[in-house]
Amino acid sequence: MNTEKQWKNKFQISFVAEEHQRIQELSAGLQQLFHGKYLEQLIFENEEADMSVYIGIGKEPLTTNQIIEVTAFASQLMKEYDIKNYDLDVSNLIEQAGIRCLEQVAQGVCLGTFEKYKPYEESLRAFTACFCGIPDLEQRKAKAHIAKGQAIAEGILFARDLVNCPSNQLKPMEFAGRIMKKLNSLHCKELKIQLIDADKLKTMGMDALYSVGNSSANPPCFLEIEYTPKPQSKNRMGLVGKGVTVDTGGYCLKPSSSMAGIKGDMAGAAAVAGAIYALAKNGQKKNVSAFLPMCENRISNGSLLPGDVISSYSGKTIEIMNTDAEGRLILADAVSYAVKKGEVTSVLDIATLTGAVVNMLGFSIAGVLCDREQLYQQFLKAAKISGEQYHRLPFKKEHEEMIKSEVADVKNMGDSCCGTITAGLFIREFAEQTPWIHLDIAGTAWVDTPIWKYQKTGATGAGVSTIYYLCEEE
Ligand code: BES
Ligand code: ZN
Ligand code: ZN
Repeated sequence: MNTEKQWKNKFQISFVAEEHQRIQELSAGLQQLFHGKYLEQLIFENEEADMSVYIGIGKEPLTTNQIIEVTAFASQLMKEYDIKNYDLDVSNLIEQAGIRCLEQVAQGVCLGTFEKYKPYEESLRAFTACFCGIPDLEQRKAKAHIAKGQAIAEGILFARDLVNCPSNQLKPMEFAGRIMKKLNSLHCKELKIQLIDADKLKTMGMDALYSVGNSSANPPCFLEIEYTPKPQSKNRMGLVGKGVTVDTGGYCLKPSSSMAGIKGDMAGAAAVAGAIYALAKNGQKKNVSAFLPMCENRISNGSLLPGDVISSYSGKTIEIMNTDAEGRLILADAVSYAVKKGEVTSVLDIATLTGAVVNMLGFSIAGVLCDREQLYQQFLKAAKISGEQYHRLPFKKEHEEMIKSEVADVKNMGDSCCGTITAGLFIREFAEQTPWIHLDIAGTAWVDTPIWKYQKTGATGAGVSTIYYLCEEE
Protein backbone atom coordinates (compact mmCIF):
# COMPACT_ATOMS: atom_id res chain seq x y z
CA MET A 1 0.00 0.00 0.00
CA ASN A 2 1.19 3.50 -0.84
CA THR A 3 0.13 6.77 0.67
CA GLU A 4 0.05 9.17 -2.25
CA LYS A 5 -1.98 12.30 -2.39
CA GLN A 6 -2.60 12.42 -6.10
CA TRP A 7 -4.78 9.99 -7.98
CA LYS A 8 -2.53 7.43 -9.57
CA ASN A 9 -4.78 4.73 -10.86
CA LYS A 10 -7.66 4.54 -13.26
CA PHE A 11 -9.87 3.16 -10.53
CA GLN A 12 -10.72 5.44 -7.67
CA ILE A 13 -12.81 4.53 -4.67
CA SER A 14 -14.35 7.10 -2.33
CA PHE A 15 -16.48 6.68 0.75
CA VAL A 16 -19.48 8.98 0.63
CA ALA A 17 -21.89 9.77 3.44
CA GLU A 18 -25.61 10.31 2.99
CA GLU A 19 -26.44 13.88 2.04
CA HIS A 20 -22.81 14.55 1.21
CA GLN A 21 -22.05 17.30 -1.27
CA ARG A 22 -20.53 14.77 -3.65
CA ILE A 23 -23.95 13.24 -4.17
CA GLN A 24 -25.34 16.61 -5.21
CA GLU A 25 -22.54 16.91 -7.74
CA LEU A 26 -23.65 13.74 -9.50
CA SER A 27 -25.95 13.89 -12.51
CA ALA A 28 -29.66 13.60 -11.80
CA GLY A 29 -29.69 10.05 -13.15
CA LEU A 30 -26.88 8.94 -10.87
CA GLN A 31 -28.44 10.72 -7.92
CA GLN A 32 -31.37 8.38 -8.26
CA LEU A 33 -29.04 5.41 -8.15
CA PHE A 34 -26.95 6.42 -5.15
CA HIS A 35 -27.91 7.95 -1.82
CA GLY A 36 -24.88 7.17 0.29
CA LYS A 37 -26.64 4.59 2.47
CA TYR A 38 -24.36 2.21 4.35
CA LEU A 39 -22.72 -0.26 1.91
CA GLU A 40 -24.53 1.16 -1.11
CA GLN A 41 -22.28 1.26 -4.21
CA LEU A 42 -22.09 3.22 -7.42
CA ILE A 43 -19.63 2.70 -10.25
CA PHE A 44 -19.46 5.33 -12.96
CA GLU A 45 -17.12 6.95 -15.45
CA ASN A 46 -15.96 10.44 -14.54
CA GLU A 47 -14.82 13.24 -16.88
CA GLU A 48 -11.31 11.93 -17.40
CA ALA A 49 -12.86 8.65 -18.52
CA ASP A 50 -11.55 7.01 -15.37
CA MET A 51 -13.71 4.78 -13.26
CA SER A 52 -15.02 6.08 -9.98
CA VAL A 53 -16.51 3.94 -7.27
CA TYR A 54 -18.58 5.45 -4.48
CA ILE A 55 -19.31 3.42 -1.40
CA GLY A 56 -21.97 4.68 0.96
CA ILE A 57 -21.16 5.07 4.64
CA GLY A 58 -24.57 6.23 5.89
CA LYS A 59 -25.34 9.12 8.23
CA GLU A 60 -23.94 8.08 11.58
CA PRO A 61 -20.22 8.10 12.43
CA LEU A 62 -18.78 4.68 11.63
CA THR A 63 -17.88 2.21 14.36
CA THR A 64 -14.47 0.51 14.29
CA ASN A 65 -16.11 -2.62 13.01
CA GLN A 66 -17.84 -0.70 10.23
CA ILE A 67 -14.59 0.89 9.08
CA ILE A 68 -13.16 -2.58 8.62
CA GLU A 69 -16.37 -3.63 6.89
CA VAL A 70 -16.64 -0.78 4.34
CA THR A 71 -12.99 -1.02 3.42
CA ALA A 72 -13.15 -4.80 3.07
CA PHE A 73 -16.22 -4.27 0.90
CA ALA A 74 -14.25 -1.89 -1.33
CA SER A 75 -11.37 -4.31 -1.66
CA GLN A 76 -13.71 -7.23 -2.40
CA LEU A 77 -15.30 -5.18 -5.13
CA MET A 78 -11.93 -4.60 -6.78
CA LYS A 79 -11.15 -8.27 -6.48
CA GLU A 80 -14.47 -9.13 -8.12
CA TYR A 81 -13.64 -6.86 -11.05
CA ASP A 82 -10.07 -8.12 -11.01
CA ILE A 83 -8.67 -4.61 -10.64
CA LYS A 84 -5.19 -5.08 -9.28
CA ASN A 85 -4.28 -1.44 -8.64
CA TYR A 86 -6.64 1.21 -7.39
CA ASP A 87 -6.78 4.44 -5.41
CA LEU A 88 -8.61 4.56 -2.11
CA ASP A 89 -9.67 8.01 -0.93
CA VAL A 90 -9.58 7.80 2.85
CA SER A 91 -10.05 11.53 3.55
CA ASN A 92 -13.66 11.16 4.72
CA LEU A 93 -12.81 8.32 7.05
CA ILE A 94 -9.88 10.21 8.59
CA GLU A 95 -12.04 13.29 9.03
CA GLN A 96 -14.63 11.22 10.83
CA ALA A 97 -12.54 8.86 12.91
CA GLY A 98 -9.02 10.33 13.08
CA ILE A 99 -5.75 9.16 11.57
CA ARG A 100 -5.73 6.02 13.71
CA CYS A 101 -8.62 4.63 11.69
CA LEU A 102 -6.02 3.72 9.05
CA GLU A 103 -5.34 0.63 11.18
CA GLN A 104 -8.88 -0.55 10.49
CA VAL A 105 -8.74 0.67 6.89
CA ALA A 106 -5.58 -1.30 6.16
CA GLN A 107 -7.03 -4.30 7.97
CA GLY A 108 -10.24 -4.17 5.93
CA VAL A 109 -8.38 -3.78 2.64
CA CYS A 110 -6.25 -6.86 3.38
CA LEU A 111 -9.16 -8.95 4.69
CA GLY A 112 -11.16 -8.14 1.56
CA THR A 113 -8.64 -10.02 -0.58
CA PHE A 114 -9.12 -13.29 1.32
CA GLU A 115 -10.13 -16.39 -0.55
CA LYS A 116 -10.69 -19.84 0.91
CA TYR A 117 -8.49 -22.71 -0.28
CA LYS A 118 -5.71 -20.35 -1.31
CA PRO A 119 -2.75 -19.39 0.88
CA TYR A 120 -3.61 -15.87 2.02
CA GLU A 121 -0.21 -14.51 0.94
CA GLU A 122 -1.06 -15.11 -2.71
CA SER A 123 -4.32 -13.14 -2.73
CA LEU A 124 -2.84 -10.39 -0.60
CA ARG A 125 0.09 -9.85 -2.94
CA ALA A 126 -2.12 -9.65 -6.03
CA PHE A 127 -3.80 -6.33 -5.10
CA THR A 128 -2.38 -2.91 -4.33
CA ALA A 129 -4.43 -0.11 -2.88
CA CYS A 130 -2.97 3.36 -3.03
CA PHE A 131 -4.17 5.45 -0.09
CA CYS A 132 -5.14 8.99 -1.07
CA GLY A 133 -6.38 11.99 0.86
CA ILE A 134 -4.00 11.72 3.83
CA PRO A 135 -3.01 15.21 5.09
CA ASP A 136 0.66 16.00 4.43
CA LEU A 137 1.54 16.48 8.06
CA GLU A 138 0.12 13.10 8.96
CA GLN A 139 1.99 11.06 6.36
CA ARG A 140 4.49 9.56 8.80
CA LYS A 141 1.91 8.58 11.36
CA ALA A 142 -0.27 7.21 8.58
CA LYS A 143 2.48 4.86 7.43
CA ALA A 144 2.86 3.42 10.94
CA HIS A 145 -0.89 2.89 11.37
CA ILE A 146 -1.18 1.24 7.99
CA ALA A 147 1.73 -1.09 8.74
CA LYS A 148 0.10 -2.06 12.02
CA GLY A 149 -3.28 -2.72 10.39
CA GLN A 150 -1.59 -4.85 7.75
CA ALA A 151 0.30 -6.89 10.35
CA ILE A 152 -2.91 -7.54 12.27
CA ALA A 153 -4.72 -8.55 9.08
CA GLU A 154 -1.91 -10.95 8.26
CA GLY A 155 -2.26 -12.46 11.72
CA ILE A 156 -6.01 -12.89 11.16
CA LEU A 157 -5.52 -14.40 7.71
CA PHE A 158 -2.81 -16.75 8.94
CA ALA A 159 -5.15 -17.95 11.71
CA ARG A 160 -7.98 -18.43 9.19
CA ASP A 161 -5.81 -20.53 6.88
CA LEU A 162 -4.86 -22.79 9.78
CA VAL A 163 -8.42 -23.19 11.05
CA ASN A 164 -9.78 -23.87 7.55
CA CYS A 165 -7.19 -26.59 7.03
CA PRO A 166 -8.71 -30.09 7.26
CA SER A 167 -7.58 -32.16 10.22
CA ASN A 168 -6.09 -34.91 8.05
CA GLN A 169 -3.68 -32.26 6.72
CA LEU A 170 -3.06 -30.57 10.05
CA LYS A 171 -2.11 -33.07 12.72
CA PRO A 172 -0.71 -31.66 15.97
CA MET A 173 2.95 -31.83 14.88
CA GLU A 174 2.12 -30.30 11.51
CA PHE A 175 0.19 -27.52 13.19
CA ALA A 176 3.21 -26.72 15.35
CA GLY A 177 5.45 -26.95 12.28
CA ARG A 178 3.42 -24.43 10.31
CA ILE A 179 3.48 -21.92 13.14
CA MET A 180 7.25 -22.33 13.60
CA LYS A 181 7.85 -21.88 9.90
CA LYS A 182 5.73 -18.74 9.75
CA LEU A 183 7.40 -17.16 12.79
CA ASN A 184 10.88 -18.14 11.60
CA SER A 185 10.19 -16.32 8.34
CA LEU A 186 10.28 -13.07 10.35
CA HIS A 187 13.96 -13.67 11.32
CA CYS A 188 13.16 -11.92 14.57
CA LYS A 189 15.86 -12.12 17.25
CA GLU A 190 13.35 -11.44 20.01
CA LEU A 191 11.48 -14.67 19.25
CA LYS A 192 12.42 -17.96 20.89
CA ILE A 193 10.49 -21.10 20.01
CA GLN A 194 10.53 -24.45 21.73
CA LEU A 195 8.63 -27.55 20.64
CA ILE A 196 7.97 -30.20 23.27
CA ASP A 197 7.11 -33.64 21.88
CA ALA A 198 4.89 -36.36 23.35
CA ASP A 199 7.68 -38.26 25.15
CA LYS A 200 8.91 -35.10 26.78
CA LEU A 201 5.34 -34.16 27.80
CA LYS A 202 5.10 -37.46 29.60
CA THR A 203 8.36 -37.09 31.49
CA MET A 204 7.50 -33.49 32.39
CA GLY A 205 4.24 -34.61 33.96
CA MET A 206 1.89 -32.89 31.55
CA ASP A 207 -0.58 -35.66 32.26
CA ALA A 208 -3.76 -33.84 31.28
CA LEU A 209 -2.48 -32.92 27.82
CA TYR A 210 -0.80 -36.29 27.39
CA SER A 211 -3.94 -38.22 28.40
CA VAL A 212 -6.12 -36.47 25.84
CA GLY A 213 -3.48 -36.72 23.12
CA ASN A 214 -2.89 -40.39 23.84
CA SER A 215 -6.29 -41.09 22.26
CA SER A 216 -4.70 -40.81 18.83
CA ALA A 217 -1.88 -42.29 16.79
CA ASN A 218 -0.99 -38.70 15.85
CA PRO A 219 0.90 -37.66 18.97
CA PRO A 220 0.28 -34.48 20.97
CA CYS A 221 2.81 -31.70 21.38
CA PHE A 222 3.28 -28.36 23.07
CA LEU A 223 4.64 -25.20 21.52
CA GLU A 224 6.16 -22.46 23.64
CA ILE A 225 6.93 -19.14 22.00
CA GLU A 226 8.70 -16.35 23.87
CA TYR A 227 8.72 -12.85 22.44
CA THR A 228 11.09 -10.66 24.45
CA PRO A 229 11.52 -7.19 22.95
CA LYS A 230 12.05 -5.70 26.43
CA PRO A 231 14.41 -7.94 28.43
CA GLN A 232 14.72 -5.39 31.25
CA SER A 233 11.00 -5.64 32.01
CA LYS A 234 9.59 -8.27 34.37
CA ASN A 235 6.11 -7.99 32.87
CA ARG A 236 5.03 -10.75 30.55
CA MET A 237 1.60 -11.54 29.18
CA GLY A 238 0.93 -15.27 28.79
CA LEU A 239 -1.30 -16.38 25.93
CA VAL A 240 -2.70 -19.89 26.03
CA GLY A 241 -4.71 -21.28 23.10
CA LYS A 242 -6.63 -24.53 22.68
CA GLY A 243 -5.11 -26.53 19.85
CA VAL A 244 -7.34 -29.58 19.42
CA THR A 245 -6.82 -30.30 15.72
CA VAL A 246 -9.80 -32.63 15.70
CA ASP A 247 -12.43 -33.17 18.41
CA THR A 248 -14.59 -36.24 17.91
CA GLY A 249 -15.65 -36.13 21.56
CA GLY A 250 -13.74 -39.33 22.33
CA TYR A 251 -15.82 -42.12 23.93
CA CYS A 252 -18.46 -39.49 24.73
CA LEU A 253 -18.73 -39.36 20.97
CA LYS A 254 -20.32 -36.36 19.33
CA PRO A 255 -23.50 -37.09 17.37
CA SER A 256 -22.88 -36.87 13.62
CA SER A 257 -24.91 -33.67 13.47
CA SER A 258 -22.25 -32.01 15.68
CA MET A 259 -19.27 -33.29 13.71
CA ALA A 260 -19.21 -30.41 11.23
CA GLY A 261 -16.49 -28.00 12.23
CA ILE A 262 -14.61 -30.40 14.52
CA LYS A 263 -11.44 -29.54 12.58
CA GLY A 264 -11.77 -25.96 13.83
CA ASP A 265 -11.23 -26.83 17.48
CA MET A 266 -7.73 -25.35 17.32
CA ALA A 267 -8.94 -21.80 16.60
CA GLY A 268 -7.75 -20.58 20.02
CA ALA A 269 -4.17 -21.68 19.36
CA ALA A 270 -4.37 -20.29 15.82
CA ALA A 271 -5.54 -16.93 17.18
CA VAL A 272 -2.61 -16.76 19.59
CA ALA A 273 -0.19 -17.70 16.80
CA GLY A 274 -1.68 -15.00 14.56
CA ALA A 275 -1.45 -12.37 17.29
CA ILE A 276 2.17 -13.23 18.14
CA TYR A 277 3.05 -13.10 14.45
CA ALA A 278 1.51 -9.63 14.12
CA LEU A 279 3.18 -8.36 17.31
CA ALA A 280 6.62 -9.56 16.24
CA LYS A 281 6.17 -8.39 12.67
CA ASN A 282 5.23 -4.95 13.88
CA GLY A 283 8.01 -4.86 16.50
CA GLN A 284 5.72 -4.29 19.48
CA LYS A 285 7.56 -3.62 22.70
CA LYS A 286 5.82 -5.70 25.37
CA ASN A 287 7.00 -9.15 26.43
CA VAL A 288 4.56 -11.89 25.48
CA SER A 289 4.70 -15.68 25.60
CA ALA A 290 2.46 -18.20 23.90
CA PHE A 291 1.72 -21.67 25.24
CA LEU A 292 -0.02 -23.88 22.74
CA PRO A 293 -1.10 -27.41 23.68
CA MET A 294 -1.88 -29.42 20.55
CA CYS A 295 -3.56 -32.81 20.24
CA GLU A 296 -6.41 -34.82 18.78
CA ASN A 297 -9.41 -36.14 20.71
CA ARG A 298 -10.29 -39.56 19.31
CA ILE A 299 -11.35 -43.07 20.23
CA SER A 300 -8.71 -45.77 20.80
CA ASN A 301 -7.57 -48.04 23.58
CA GLY A 302 -5.43 -45.16 24.78
CA SER A 303 -8.42 -42.82 25.19
CA LEU A 304 -9.75 -41.53 28.46
CA LEU A 305 -13.03 -42.90 29.77
CA PRO A 306 -15.62 -41.28 32.00
CA GLY A 307 -14.75 -42.10 35.59
CA ASP A 308 -10.99 -42.04 35.00
CA VAL A 309 -8.88 -39.98 37.36
CA ILE A 310 -5.75 -38.36 35.99
CA SER A 311 -2.99 -36.16 37.32
CA SER A 312 -1.88 -32.87 35.78
CA TYR A 313 1.19 -30.66 35.48
CA SER A 314 0.03 -28.70 38.53
CA GLY A 315 -0.16 -31.87 40.61
CA LYS A 316 -3.93 -31.52 41.00
CA THR A 317 -5.99 -34.61 40.19
CA ILE A 318 -8.89 -34.49 37.77
CA GLU A 319 -11.95 -36.70 37.55
CA ILE A 320 -13.05 -37.25 33.94
CA MET A 321 -16.82 -36.87 33.72
CA ASN A 322 -17.05 -36.38 29.99
CA THR A 323 -14.34 -37.08 27.40
CA ASP A 324 -15.76 -34.36 25.15
CA ALA A 325 -14.73 -31.76 27.73
CA GLU A 326 -11.11 -32.20 26.58
CA GLY A 327 -10.24 -28.57 25.87
CA ARG A 328 -10.16 -27.53 29.51
CA LEU A 329 -7.86 -30.48 30.30
CA ILE A 330 -5.16 -29.47 27.87
CA LEU A 331 -5.58 -25.79 28.76
CA ALA A 332 -5.19 -26.66 32.43
CA ASP A 333 -1.69 -28.02 31.81
CA ALA A 334 -0.74 -25.15 29.53
CA VAL A 335 -1.95 -22.53 32.02
CA SER A 336 -0.09 -24.32 34.86
CA TYR A 337 3.06 -24.37 32.82
CA ALA A 338 2.65 -20.68 31.95
CA VAL A 339 2.35 -19.60 35.59
CA LYS A 340 4.96 -22.03 36.98
CA LYS A 341 7.64 -21.99 34.29
CA GLY A 342 6.66 -19.30 31.83
CA GLU A 343 7.19 -16.36 34.22
CA VAL A 344 4.00 -14.68 33.12
CA THR A 345 2.47 -11.84 35.12
CA SER A 346 -1.02 -12.22 33.57
CA VAL A 347 -2.53 -15.07 31.65
CA LEU A 348 -5.14 -15.08 28.90
CA ASP A 349 -6.60 -18.28 27.55
CA ILE A 350 -8.65 -18.53 24.38
CA ALA A 351 -10.59 -21.55 23.18
CA THR A 352 -13.50 -22.96 21.22
CA LEU A 353 -14.56 -24.37 24.55
CA THR A 354 -18.31 -24.78 24.99
CA GLY A 355 -21.45 -25.30 22.96
CA ALA A 356 -23.20 -23.38 25.75
CA VAL A 357 -21.59 -20.09 24.72
CA VAL A 358 -22.94 -20.56 21.19
CA ASN A 359 -26.47 -21.09 22.53
CA MET A 360 -26.13 -18.05 24.73
CA LEU A 361 -24.40 -15.46 22.52
CA GLY A 362 -24.47 -16.84 18.98
CA PHE A 363 -21.84 -16.31 16.32
CA SER A 364 -20.98 -12.64 16.73
CA ILE A 365 -20.22 -12.30 20.45
CA ALA A 366 -17.67 -14.29 22.44
CA GLY A 367 -17.87 -15.03 26.18
CA VAL A 368 -15.36 -13.65 28.70
CA LEU A 369 -14.50 -14.53 32.27
CA CYS A 370 -11.93 -12.51 34.20
CA ASP A 371 -10.85 -12.38 37.84
CA ARG A 372 -9.10 -8.97 37.97
CA GLU A 373 -10.70 -5.61 37.28
CA GLN A 374 -7.56 -3.95 35.97
CA LEU A 375 -6.93 -6.69 33.45
CA TYR A 376 -10.56 -6.62 32.38
CA GLN A 377 -10.44 -2.85 31.83
CA GLN A 378 -7.35 -3.27 29.64
CA PHE A 379 -9.17 -5.95 27.73
CA LEU A 380 -12.24 -3.74 27.22
CA LYS A 381 -10.04 -1.02 25.82
CA ALA A 382 -8.41 -3.47 23.43
CA ALA A 383 -11.77 -4.83 22.28
CA LYS A 384 -13.01 -1.31 21.66
CA ILE A 385 -10.14 -0.64 19.28
CA SER A 386 -10.38 -4.03 17.57
CA GLY A 387 -14.15 -3.81 17.09
CA GLU A 388 -14.61 -7.44 18.17
CA GLN A 389 -17.64 -8.14 20.37
CA TYR A 390 -17.37 -9.78 23.79
CA HIS A 391 -19.67 -10.26 26.73
CA ARG A 392 -18.47 -10.83 30.26
CA LEU A 393 -20.06 -13.59 32.32
CA PRO A 394 -20.28 -13.61 36.11
CA PHE A 395 -19.01 -16.32 38.42
CA LYS A 396 -19.63 -16.95 42.12
CA LYS A 397 -18.78 -19.43 44.83
CA GLU A 398 -21.76 -21.61 43.88
CA HIS A 399 -20.29 -22.06 40.40
CA GLU A 400 -16.96 -23.08 41.87
CA GLU A 401 -18.80 -25.72 43.93
CA MET A 402 -20.12 -27.29 40.73
CA ILE A 403 -16.73 -28.60 39.65
CA LYS A 404 -15.68 -30.08 43.01
CA SER A 405 -15.14 -33.82 42.85
CA GLU A 406 -15.56 -36.55 45.46
CA VAL A 407 -12.62 -38.55 44.17
CA ALA A 408 -10.23 -35.89 42.83
CA ASP A 409 -9.37 -32.21 43.27
CA VAL A 410 -11.64 -31.13 40.39
CA LYS A 411 -13.90 -32.69 37.77
CA ASN A 412 -14.00 -31.72 34.13
CA MET A 413 -17.71 -31.05 33.91
CA GLY A 414 -20.17 -29.26 36.17
CA ASP A 415 -23.92 -29.56 36.59
CA SER A 416 -26.29 -29.35 33.67
CA CYS A 417 -26.32 -25.55 33.81
CA CYS A 418 -23.76 -22.73 33.37
CA GLY A 419 -21.52 -24.78 31.06
CA THR A 420 -19.49 -21.80 29.89
CA ILE A 421 -18.88 -20.53 33.41
CA THR A 422 -17.87 -23.88 34.89
CA ALA A 423 -15.57 -24.59 31.92
CA GLY A 424 -13.81 -21.28 32.54
CA LEU A 425 -13.59 -21.84 36.29
CA PHE A 426 -12.03 -25.24 35.72
CA ILE A 427 -9.17 -23.51 33.88
CA ARG A 428 -8.94 -20.79 36.52
CA GLU A 429 -8.08 -23.49 39.10
CA PHE A 430 -4.75 -23.79 37.31
CA ALA A 431 -3.92 -20.09 37.00
CA GLU A 432 -3.34 -19.98 40.78
CA GLN A 433 -2.76 -16.36 41.86
CA THR A 434 -1.92 -14.98 38.43
CA PRO A 435 -4.48 -12.50 37.03
CA TRP A 436 -6.54 -14.47 34.51
CA ILE A 437 -8.81 -13.74 31.58
CA HIS A 438 -10.62 -16.34 29.51
CA LEU A 439 -12.19 -16.03 26.05
CA ASP A 440 -14.67 -18.65 24.82
CA ILE A 441 -14.79 -18.27 21.03
CA ALA A 442 -16.76 -21.46 20.22
CA GLY A 443 -19.40 -19.30 18.49
CA THR A 444 -17.26 -16.63 16.85
CA ALA A 445 -14.36 -18.66 15.44
CA TRP A 446 -16.39 -20.01 12.56
CA VAL A 447 -19.30 -18.70 10.46
CA ASP A 448 -21.45 -20.72 8.08
CA THR A 449 -23.18 -17.51 7.06
CA PRO A 450 -20.88 -14.46 7.21
CA ILE A 451 -22.19 -11.70 9.46
CA TRP A 452 -19.91 -8.92 8.23
CA LYS A 453 -18.49 -8.23 4.79
CA TYR A 454 -14.93 -8.91 5.91
CA GLN A 455 -15.84 -12.51 6.74
CA LYS A 456 -16.01 -15.51 4.43
CA THR A 457 -17.76 -18.79 5.19
CA GLY A 458 -15.42 -20.73 7.46
CA ALA A 459 -12.80 -19.51 9.90
CA THR A 460 -13.00 -15.88 11.06
CA GLY A 461 -9.67 -15.33 12.81
CA ALA A 462 -11.59 -14.38 15.96
CA GLY A 463 -9.48 -13.09 18.82
CA VAL A 464 -6.35 -12.11 16.88
CA SER A 465 -6.92 -8.36 16.79
CA THR A 466 -8.16 -8.00 20.36
CA ILE A 467 -5.23 -10.02 21.69
CA TYR A 468 -2.89 -7.89 19.60
CA TYR A 469 -4.22 -4.67 21.09
CA LEU A 470 -4.18 -6.12 24.59
CA CYS A 471 -0.49 -6.95 24.20
CA GLU A 472 0.41 -3.66 22.56
CA GLU A 473 2.53 -1.25 24.52
CA GLU A 474 0.52 1.66 25.86
N1 BES B 1 -14.92 -28.14 21.16
C1 BES B 1 -16.09 -28.35 21.92
C2 BES B 1 -16.94 -27.10 22.06
C3 BES B 1 -17.60 -26.58 20.81
C4 BES B 1 -18.92 -26.84 20.58
C5 BES B 1 -16.91 -25.79 19.91
C6 BES B 1 -19.53 -26.34 19.44
C7 BES B 1 -17.50 -25.30 18.78
C8 BES B 1 -18.80 -25.56 18.54
C9 BES B 1 -15.73 -28.84 23.31
O1 BES B 1 -14.60 -29.65 23.40
C10 BES B 1 -16.89 -29.63 23.82
O2 BES B 1 -17.20 -30.61 23.22
N2 BES B 1 -17.50 -29.15 24.89
C11 BES B 1 -18.63 -29.80 25.47
C12 BES B 1 -18.45 -29.81 26.97
C13 BES B 1 -19.42 -30.65 27.72
C14 BES B 1 -19.23 -32.11 27.40
C15 BES B 1 -19.22 -30.43 29.20
C16 BES B 1 -19.89 -29.02 25.11
O3 BES B 1 -19.87 -27.79 25.13
O4 BES B 1 -20.89 -29.65 24.81
ZN1 ZN C 1 -14.97 -31.71 23.05
ZN1 ZN D 1 -13.18 -29.37 21.88
